[in-house]
Amino acid sequence: MTSIDSNPTSAPRHIVVLGTGGTLAGMATSAEDNVGYTAGQVAVSQLLAAVPALQRRCAEGWSIESEQVAQLDSKDMSHAVWRRLAERVQWHLDRPEVDGIVVTHGTDTLEETGYLLQRVLAPTKPVVLTAAMRPASAAQPDGPQNLADAVTVAGQVGARGVVAVLAGKVWLGSEVRKVHPYRPDAFDAGDAGPLAHVEEGRLRLLRDWPTGTPLGLQVLAADIWPEVQIVVSHAGADGRVVDLLMEAGVQGVVVAATGNGTVHHDLQAALLRAQSAGVAVVRALRGGAGCIVPTGHDLVPDAGALTAAQARVEVLLRLLSRRA
Ligand code: SIN
Repeated sequence: MTSIDSNPTSAPRHIVVLGTGGTLAGMATSAEDNVGYTAGQVAVSQLLAAVPALQRRCAEGWSIESEQVAQLDSKDMSHAVWRRLAERVQWHLDRPEVDGIVVTHGTDTLEETGYLLQRVLAPTKPVVLTAAMRPASAAQPDGPQNLADAVTVAGQVGARGVVAVLAGKVWLGSEVRKVHPYRPDAFDAGDAGPLAHVEEGRLRLLRDWPTGTPLGLQVLAADIWPEVQIVVSHAGADGRVVDLLMEAGVQGVVVAATGNGTVHHDLQAALLRAQSAGVAVVRALRGGAGCIVPTGHDLVPDAGALTAAQARVEVLLRLLSRRA
C-alpha cells in the first residue's frame, strides 16, 4: 500500500488516558539511572500534566481526561488487572463523546495486553497503548514524546483498533513485540512492519487500520481462568515439564519452537500425549521474525507469526470462549 499522509483533525478531540504504570511512570534515585528504577510510581494525571504538547492540545480545545486503572510493573500483570483494564476501556469507548483511548503500560508485557485487547474488544475507535524505556525521572525520558504521539494517534479521524505507539512508530496491538531490553526503539512487528509513523504531530499511515470481530468482554468473566503454560524446545529438552504440567491439571501448552516450528522429539512425544488427553497444544516461534510455514504433516497446530506470549493469550481466550 502506498503511504498516505494522514493529518490530525483540526477539530478538538476527547481522549481518555488510562494509567497502568510501567517504566513510563517509573522513578530512579538518580536522573542518570535508566535501569535501576522502580516502575509504576507516578500517577498518570501527573505524567500528562508534565507534557507541554498535551497542554497545547488542551489550549486548542482538546479534552484529555485520565483514570488510574492500575499502578504496576507490567512483568506482574495479572488476569484480574487485564479484566479490569478491558472493562474500563470498553466503558469509555461506549461514551459517545470519547474519540479515542490511550493506555499507559509497561513495555515488558505490552505485546500480551495489546493482543488481548484487540481480540476481546476489536474496537471501532482507537485504543492506543504507549510505554517508555526510560523512567520518568531520567534526564532524557522517552515517555513524554510517546504520550504526546499516542494522544495524536488516539485523536486521529478514522483510526480504529488496538495499536501501540513507541519511538515514533505505530504497531498493531496484535503484532507488536518487544525486541530489545534497553533501546528506546525496542519494538517491532516481525515481517508485518509498522502501521504508521508519527512525525511532528502528524500521522503517516502505511497500511489499513485493524479490523476484527470482538470476542466480547463476557469472555473474561470467569472467576478462574484456564491454566495455560509456555514451555521451550531446546537442545537437551525432554518431556518431563509437560508431564508435570499434566499432573497439575494444565489445560493449554504453548511450545516455543525452534526453526520453522520444530520441537525436540522427546518434548514432542510428551506434547502429543498431552494433546491426546485434551490439552490445547500450540507451536509458536521461539524468537525472531517471520511466520511458521505449515509443512502439511504437522502433528501440532502452529500460531503463525505470534510470539509464544501472544500465542498463550490466544489459547487462553479460546479456552475461555468455550466457557463463556
Ligand atoms: C514494565 O514493563 O512495567 C517495566 C519495564 C518497562 O516498562 O520498560
